[in-house]
Amino acid sequence: MKHLLAQRSLVAVLAAVLAAGPAGCDSKPSGGSDPSAGISPKVMADALHAVMEADRTVYASQVVYRLQDEEEVVHASEHWQDEKALPLPAQMFRMGAERVAGTTDAFSYGLLSKWPVNRKNAPRTELETAGLDSVAKDPSKPFYGRETLGGVEYFTAVYADVAVSPACVTCHNAHKDSPRTDFEEGDTMGGVVIRIPLR
Ligand code: HEC
Repeated sequence: MKHLLAQRSLVAVLAAVLAAGPAGCDSKPSGGSDPSAGISPKVMADALHAVMEADRTVYASQVVYRLQDEEEVVHASEHWQDEKALPLPAQMFRMGAERVAGTTDAFSYGLLSKWPVNRKNAPRTELETAGLDSVAKDPSKPFYGRETLGGVEYFTAVYADVAVSPACVTCHNAHKDSPRTDFEEGDTMGGVVIRIPLR
């Protein structure tokens, strides 16, 4: 859990840096700074994604896999509250995203898919759909673009979420709400979407 807390606090630091604007890292007052001196939205999105991916992998392997499959002391379940179980990795991810949404508007993120178990995780914008198609074709290349939503321009990045273990495939293919039942290991099952408003 220490790892997770450390990573969560890194997200908080990144959020604070973003919220403070381009001058967030130095001691000068932020008002008169040159906006071009800040880091690019792409670098920011890539850095945020690195933290998210690390967090997701550590939770899946060191918490869920270790305690459920190796030590067999607790299981992970979609109905984790009723069953006093561990939340699924995707649920942990969503709860983190919801907390971030409650603390900053400097960026937002989510785990989406064109074949979602939870319909809330379906793409809603053209760019999200194009990004998910693109990372499904080539998971090694993130997709970057700009979109205007509600009058605000955003930099939006989409990163592949790949079926890294047989458990991903078995659970999704068998899930009653899954619109797709033919996932194979190594397939892109969805993508992490990170959105940064450009001001
Ligand atoms: C035990 C079942 C189970 C396992 C194992 C599992 N998932 Fe999921 N996954 C779910 C459920 C249930 C959701 C919906 C969670 C929610 O309510 O947002 C989900 C959500 C997702 C989503 C968001 C889109 C959607 O389907 O709603 C992606 C992408 C995803 N999982 C990928 C993976 C990957 C990759 C792995 C393996 C590393 C994995 N899942 C392992 C059950 C599972």
